[in-house]
Amino acid sequence: MLLQKTEVLKVGRDLSGKGDIEKLSFAADILRRGGLVAFPTETVYGLGANALDERAVESIFRAKGRPQDNPLIVHFSKADDIAEYAHTENNVFFDILKQQMPAPLTVILPKKQNVPSVVTAGLDNVASRVPTSLIARKLIELAGVPVAAPSANLSGKPSPTTAYHVICDMENRADVIIDGGECDVGVESTVVTLCGKVPMLLRPGGFTHERLEELLGKVDISDAVLSALKDGEKAQSPGMKYKHYSPDTKVILVKGNEENVRAFLEKKIISEPCGVICYDEDTDIVENGRVIRMGSRSHSEDYAERLFAALRLSDSIKNIDRVYAVLPFDTSGISLAIYNRMLRAAAFNIADADAENK
Ligand code: TXA
Ligand code: MG
Repeated sequence: MLLQKTEVLKVGRDLSGKGDIEKLSFAADILRRGGLVAFPTETVYGLGANALDERAVESIFRAKGRPQDNPLIVHFSKADDIAEYAHTENNVFFDILKQQMPAPLTVILPKKQNVPSVVTAGLDNVASRVPTSLIARKLIELAGVPVAAPSANLSGKPSPTTAYHVICDMENRADVIIDGGECDVGVESTVVTLCGKVPMLLRPGGFTHERLEELLGKVDISDAVLSALKDGEKAQSPGMKYKHYSPDTKVILVKGNEENVRAFLEKKIISEPCGVICYDEDTDIVENGRVIRMGSRSHSEDYAERLFAALRLSDSIKNIDRVYAVLPFDTSGISLAIYNRMLRAAAFNIADADAENK
């Protein structure tokens, strides 16, 4: 750390507050000097360092306890800057997606030599993203350098969607934490590789697969999105191979039709020391202290927005050792990202309510 202790700076999301720009300038200066700044984006909070400063980037890995072979996303304040660090020439997919930026979207392209290999964990490709968040873009613009940033959680923990989550994980590990309120999307950006003939979705997020296909034509979905990697299998996106997003409380997903899921939860809540993550429509089953509400079943965006906070919250419910989580009915739209994160949080542990109710 450059500073003696972490400074938490509150900044308005539209940057209209008194002193907001001064606070971001202070944080930008810390970035330029090789320090670590946690900042809000529209997806989750990131832990940023100057992407061109190898030592600063190394300190991100230390602060998070992140495995060295898991590459980082480089953040830019505008899409035009990406071409300075990635080979975008003659890439029609990039030309189309560039028009959509800023967005909760990360594109993977062959890297140029000026990107330090510590950023890409030795890979020949680099992940680039222009966040929608005004705070994030202003910070990067003021720093005048591209900013490498993973999610600002300790490695393996749920990603942070509030400054409070970041303080819990990064106090006295990051120099500055910018508090810009709650993140809108709630799950990390969509990651798509544009290196092959057909683009491939490596991590689903707020920029949906359906939207990508509308824009680009066919987009493959990596097997790792909905299944666990087999032993020895090589991950396209190294982040997918690690245990992820886990609270200390054991997470068990519940699948089945609506009626059977309700019956399952009714039974479990009286017979087991459990909490329940469910839609508002089902909250009547469960006594208040043990339920975490995810919004209406007809609006999965709310589930995504609350997902990581819900996982963290499950650790603060007293006298439970497990939490049962209801999932959306299908994997369309944002629900693909919900499945992807919750499957990992539960280490692919799924209870079948239909079978139990036979
Ligand atoms: O929304 C987000 O993307 C947030 C905010 C802070 O921007 N960042 C984020 O970073 O989620 P992180 O490090 O937690 O996740 C980055 C993911 C990892 O799964 C990593 O393996 C993958 O992107 N990734 C990064 N560079 C890559 C590359 N060159 N090739 C393949 N996958 C890459
Ligand atoms: Mg992460």
